[in-house]
Amino acid sequence: MRRILIDTDTASDDAVALIFALRDDRAHIEAITVVAGNVPVDTGVKNALTAVQMANTYTPPVYRGCSKPMMRDLFTSEFVHGSDGMGDMNLPDPALCVASGHAVDKIIELVVDNPHEIELITLGPLTNLALAYLKEPRIAQLVKHVFVMGGSGFGPGNITPVAEFNIYVDAEAAQIVLSSGMPLTFVGWDVSTDETFISQADIDHLLATGSPIAQFCVRCNEGLRLHNEEVWGQSGFDLPDPTAVIAALYPEIILKQSTVYSFIECKSADTYGQMVIDGNNLLKRPANVTLCHKIDAARFKDILFSRIQ
Ligand code: RIB
Ligand code: CA
Repeated sequence: MRRILIDTDTASDDAVALIFALRDDRAHIEAITVVAGNVPVDTGVKNALTAVQMANTYTPPVYRGCSKPMMRDLFTSEFVHGSDGMGDMNLPDPALCVASGHAVDKIIELVVDNPHEIELITLGPLTNLALAYLKEPRIAQLVKHVFVMGGSGFGPGNITPVAEFNIYVDAEAAQIVLSSGMPLTFVGWDVSTDETFISQADIDHLLATGSPIAQFCVRCNEGLRLHNEEVWGQSGFDLPDPTAVIAALYPEIILKQSTVYSFIECKSADTYGQMVIDGNNLLKRPANVTLCHKIDAARFKDILFSRIQ
């Protein structure tokens, strides 16, 4: 059983990822830490607690983390996920409560107290993780592995032509993580926008199960579905966070990955947040990240759908 901490800016795709992870038998979720990103951090805490309740398995502690990026004002994505981040479901307050203690301290505590046992999966901006590293650099050597939903590989960005949301919100934090020496695997937004995209047929399949969990996972992504329809002209929705979680827990479905040197552009106004990937090793810098480029979409959907029904 792998011991996992999930850091999340809980909006609708994060919520599906949390529900999946809590219902999957390959991982024990030791803790959930929340960071500002898609939504303000307190909304993210509410959505994370709601997802834990909806998973209906066990209840790991949920800790509140950073309420803004390191250097910039918070840029949120309610225009994508809805005002509550959950498709405007106007959900009631969860019965579960946030645990005491700051997310940054809890990341440090869990990793330092369990050397080489804890794996981190991050689903939002990297503010919490960057600050945990700055406060306790030893976590870079003591963490077993860090899987990041971030960047868009060699593909276009989703917030600017070159930047993906999680990196764009806090590019400085992402650069701190990339240069920390942590063992890193990035699963970019590009991995969730090919055949892994959740089509209308997939939606119909999930709804036909009659499962309340499956229906919740579809309904909370209604904002994302409408956004995709209006902005990208696609019917359905991408699930980048579940893609990252399943690539992390089921490495056998990864079809293509590469190990490269990468850095984040933090200075340019026009290309801020770009994950620059030296695919041809022109800079002759030591590799610092493994990039997942493609997963088996059919296997991904089988695994995901089997757990959220
Ligand atoms: O770019 C996609 C990422 O940004 C996902 O993690 C989504 O939840 C948002 O945080
Ligand atoms: Ca997210």
